[in-house]
Amino acid sequence: MKERLEALRDEAIAKIKEANEIKAVQDVRVSYLGKKGPITEVLRGMGKLSAEERPIVGQIANEVREAITAELEKKLTALEEAEIERKLAEEQIDVSLPGRPVARGTRHPLTAVVEEVEDTFLGLGFTVAEGPEVETDYYNFEALNLPKDHPARDMQDSFYFTEELLLRTHTSPVQARTMEKFEGKGPVKVIVPGKVFRRDDDDATHSHQFMQIEGLYVDHNVRMSDLKGVLEAFAKSFFGVDRRIRLRPSFFPFTEPSVEVDVSCGMCGGKGCRVCKNTGWIEVLGAGMVHPRVLEMSGFDPKKYSGFAFGMGVERLAMLKYDIDDIRHFYTNDVRFLSQFKRV
Ligand code: DAH
Repeated sequence: MKERLEALRDEAIAKIKEANEIKAVQDVRVSYLGKKGPITEVLRGMGKLSAEERPIVGQIANEVREAITAELEKKLTALEEAEIERKLAEEQIDVSLPGRPVARGTRHPLTAVVEEVEDTFLGLGFTVAEGPEVETDYYNFEALNLPKDHPARDMQDSFYFTEELLLRTHTSPVQARTMEKFEGKGPVKVIVPGKVFRRDDDDATHSHQFMQIEGLYVDHNVRMSDLKGVLEAFAKSFFGVDRRIRLRPSFFPFTEPSVEVDVSCGMCGGKGCRVCKNTGWIEVLGAGMVHPRVLEMSGFDPKKYSGFAFGMGVERLAMLKYDIDDIRHFYTNDVRFLSQFKRV
C-alpha cells in the first residue's frame, strides 16, 4: 500500500510538472485528490489493514496528499506569475514611439476678425453686448428713427415673418435695446457683433446673411472728435499703424451728423491703384453722432447726453485685410480656403 501511494504521488507530481496551463493543474487536483481519485480509493481499503499498519499508512497517505497539494500550489503560483508577466510584456507601451498626428481645426476667419475687433475695443473700455436675430419692427426701424413710411426703409430689403417681426437687417437695434437697459444713465459703451439678414441676391460682394459689428458710446459730452479718435485707433490696430482714416458726410436716419469712414489704401499707401479704384481710399464703415430722437426714444435725455455710433461689415473687414475677392468663400467652408487662416 505504501508503494502504491508513493507511486501515485510520483505520478501526480510528474503530471503537475508537465502541466503548463492552470486548467491542466486543476484537472490533476481533481483526478488525484478528488473523491473518486485513486488516493481516496486506497484510503477506503484501509479497513482491511491491521491495527499497527493503519496509522502508518494513514500518515503516509497524509504526507502524499500534502506533497501533491504543495506541488499543486507551487505550480499554480508559478503559472499565475507567468501569466502576469506575459500580460505585462504584451501590454507594454513604448513611450518613445512618435505620437499620431492630431488634425487640428482652425478658427473661422470671421470668428478671428470678430475676436480681434472685440479685443481692440475691450482695450478702449467697451464691453460686448448682443441682441436677437429675430427682431421687432420697433427696434429694427422705429427706435432708430425710421418711422413706418420712412423712405430710408427701402435701403434695407428685409425678411419678414409677420408685419411686426423680421430678421434684423443690421445690428443697430441693439443700440436701442442696450440704452433701454441703462435706464437713462450713462456711460453706455458697447460693441455688438452679430449676424444680419437682407433680401439681396448673393454674388461676390453680397450675401443675404452677413455679419456686422455695431459700436455705441453714450455719455456726457461725447463729441465727434471722440468718434474720430476711436475709429482711428481701431483702423491702425486692425489694418496697420501706417493707415489713416477720413470721414465723409453721409446720411443715416439714426445719426446726425452721419459719416462714411474710409481707410487709406494699404496697397498703394493712398496714391491710387486698382484696389482703391484710383481714389487712395477704401470705405470701411458708417458712423455718426446718435440722433437726439434716438437717445430720447430709448430713455436718454439728449440735453444731458450725447453719443456716437458706428456699424461695420465683418466680411468686408476680413476681405480687405486678407485680400479675399469673394464673400461666398466665408460660407462654402472649403477647407482649402479655411486652412489658410491657421495662424490668424
Ligand atoms: N446700420 C447701418 C447699416 O447697416 C450701419 C451704421 C451706420 C451703423 C451708421 C451705425 C451708424 O451705428 O452710426 O448700414
